[in-house]
Amino acid sequence: MSSFNVRRIRADIPLLQREINGRKITYLDSGASSLQPHAVIDAMSRYYELRHANVHRGVYQTANEATEAYEGSRAAVALFLNAPGGADEVVFTKNTTESLNLIAKTWGADHLAQGDVVLVSEMEHHANIVPWFQLREATGVEVRFIPVGDDYRLDLTKLDELLDGVKLLSVTAMSNVLGTKNPIAELAEAAHRVGALIAVDGAQSIVHGVTDVQELDIDFLAFSGHKMLGPTGIGVLWTRESVLDTMGPFMGGGGMIADVRVDGFTPAKGVARFEAGTPPIAESVGLRAAVRYLTGLGMENVADHDHELTVDALTRLESSFDGRVRVIGPSDTKDRGGVISLDVEGVHPHDVAQVLDQFGVCVRPGHHCAKPLMKRFGLAATARASFGPYSTTRDTDVLLEALTSAVSMFG
Ligand code: ALA
Repeated sequence: MSSFNVRRIRADIPLLQREINGRKITYLDSGASSLQPHAVIDAMSRYYELRHANVHRGVYQTANEATEAYEGSRAAVALFLNAPGGADEVVFTKNTTESLNLIAKTWGADHLAQGDVVLVSEMEHHANIVPWFQLREATGVEVRFIPVGDDYRLDLTKLDELLDGVKLLSVTAMSNVLGTKNPIAELAEAAHRVGALIAVDGAQSIVHGVTDVQELDIDFLAFSGHKMLGPTGIGVLWTRESVLDTMGPFMGGGGMIADVRVDGFTPAKGVARFEAGTPPIAESVGLRAAVRYLTGLGMENVADHDHELTVDALTRLESSFDGRVRVIGPSDTKDRGGVISLDVEGVHPHDVAQVLDQFGVCVRPGHHCAKPLMKRFGLAATARASFGPYSTTRDTDVLLEALTSAVSMFG
């Protein structure tokens, strides 16, 4: 029997019990940040109540326990991703953005030079564009874009040409605006064929299905804890040990060194080299609890649930509103997840979001930190509804009720 029971999941999430403007909250902003179950919140509280100390420093009991908790979280994440080299390949960062910056500022700075190409796509979030522009300023590398077609999917017709001179392909697994899921295994194969590495922004995809880094055959994966039912303040950069060993340190400070002398320093080996200063210890405990919770649900079940919700919402949006509400994203539901951007004719997305708030519906209005993509479709902003594992068709009912009000109010 499936371990996935959305009623039970909802009961686990305290924030879903809240009322907003006299209505039960309808949380449709999981693309920006997911909600946390008691298991995550309680694990962090228990850690602070009983075991907190700094890690990798003390010799007393709680310091050892804190270190074990922190390193145990690393091992749990490695297992979740099916990392071939285990915990030695998992670097804890602050978030996806820091993970992507880490790749650019260490691997990129060490391995790339003028004449090399970094290939990204037009549907990237700024976190997977700006670090490469910064690297371009520092080294003269070329940053090239895979275009997005009118079908809201990557246009891969000229991929071979685009890959000429590429040393790194850095692409999102799932668009935070369109919901499009990209063919990562196929892109990895193409990148490897020309001797390039592939980095994957998994910020959205991580909570929408199974992520197996060996099956995808990728080289880097970046994601955040808070988008997968975990806490804010912790992110992950996974990379193969063979790649990690070729990367210089990131930030300087305590914890990332093997030795410091008056004439210089020697960086630590392994993942410690990238984790200067006191790391996110309690957050790692929360992330481990989130991984355990999601594993308990089964990521295949989470993906199936997300798919059902998306099919239902797209079908109902299509047949309502006489074309006044346009979905900015693929209308077919193959390789598409539960992120649904809406353009309501004649109504600014901020106004839409404000009307929705009156119904207790939480969506994100704006450019979603993906301005090149917005420009591609001639939009300044959209109102984006995004599902989490705890979402239901009832959330879509309320969304449609609130959208009906927005459309008639401004109509
Ligand atoms: N990247 C997050 C979003 O899409 C913040 O909302």
